[in-house]
Amino acid sequence: MAEQKNQEKNETIENVQSLYSEAALMQKPKLCCPTGYAGDETSHIPKEVLDVSYGCGNPTTFKVMQSGMTLVDLGSGAGIDCFIASKKVGRYGKVIGIDMTDNMLEKASRNKELVASRLGFDNVEFRKGQIDNLPVADKTADLVISNCVINLAVDKGKVFEEIHRVLKDEGLFCVSDIVASKDVPQHLKDDKKLWGECVSGALETSKYLQAATEAGFYGLQVLKSYVWQAMEGINFISITLKGHKLKRSPECIYQGQTATYNGPGLEFKDDEDHTFKRGIPLEICMETAKRLNKAPYDSFFSISGVTGNKEESPDCSTPTKNVNAKIENDCGPGCC
Ligand SMILES: C[S@@+](CC[C@H](N)C(=O)[O-])C[C@H]1O[C@@H](n2cnc3c(N)ncnc32)[C@H](O)[C@@H]1O
Repeated sequence: MAEQKNQEKNETIENVQSLYSEAALMQKPKLCCPTGYAGDETSHIPKEVLDVSYGCGNPTTFKVMQSGMTLVDLGSGAGIDCFIASKKVGRYGKVIGIDMTDNMLEKASRNKELVASRLGFDNVEFRKGQIDNLPVADKTADLVISNCVINLAVDKGKVFEEIHRVLKDEGLFCVSDIVASKDVPQHLKDDKKLWGECVSGALETSKYLQAATEAGFYGLQVLKSYVWQAMEGINFISITLKGHKLKRSPECIYQGQTATYNGPGLEFKDDEDHTFKRGIPLEICMETAKRLNKAPYDSFFSISGVTGNKEESPDCSTPTKNVNAKIENDCGPGCC
């Protein structure tokens, strides 16, 4: 059984690789989706790279990049997003593009010199590898991006685990991808051409989000979503999703911090199963307080007594409550 699954996985990878090997050399209009790049974002990128760009969104926007960041791009293709990122993270930043297809890597590497000469610095490196087994050391990246690639992988959960592994604590991912409004039936999944065209490998949306949550990500936000095409009653949707890797503490230490959800909804349920009613302060542990005091939550909450609000900082040397068991409104086993 395991052997058969492995064989199916290898066949899928070979099929995808052969499609993108050709698509690197000659534009395949069928693989081009609306992406939304602004002209000034790509003006330093050679046309032969732009011609074979096959993304389904634009994860390089949404203000996720800062100068000096180390960034990894999964399934970098001919390098469009790496080259946009190169300019945004600047000469003290670093961009690592990963792809499995030689022709894509060759085109990307050849154009890297030209982009570097236009920008005046060279901060991009392309590596050959699989997105579910990244050739990148643990805790390397501040940001992981990907554009229309994870749907092509057989085991999306493993890909999100790899993203989590290579991110530094406090790092984040921002990926554009195709998801489906319903489970894709087996006969579509078996259609290798449709799989390669970013259709039938799409996971149903909630399962995609679940894969990211199970890999350990917090605060998932759908930044953009639109229906790309419909087939057999299923909408195939382009989404851009962001998620955070946060350093977890094994303990819940209560020191009197509270969080008040400010709305606009009636209530807010976080990834730890706390339910915050609008306007009602809820006692939370230190880790939860720190988490809610940062993006993406901070604009929705008022936190009292959290480190960082200097005038309100509690004395952290004497924990007042230390809870590992699950209790009402607690952070749960493993905790916060
Ligand atoms: C749809 S294209 C997107 C390319 C690029 N992100 C862009 O926006 O132009 C998919 C790319 O992912 C690569 N790819 C697909 N599956 C992969 C895998 N399992 N590991 C590494 N690369 C993969 C393909 O070789 C191809 O270059």
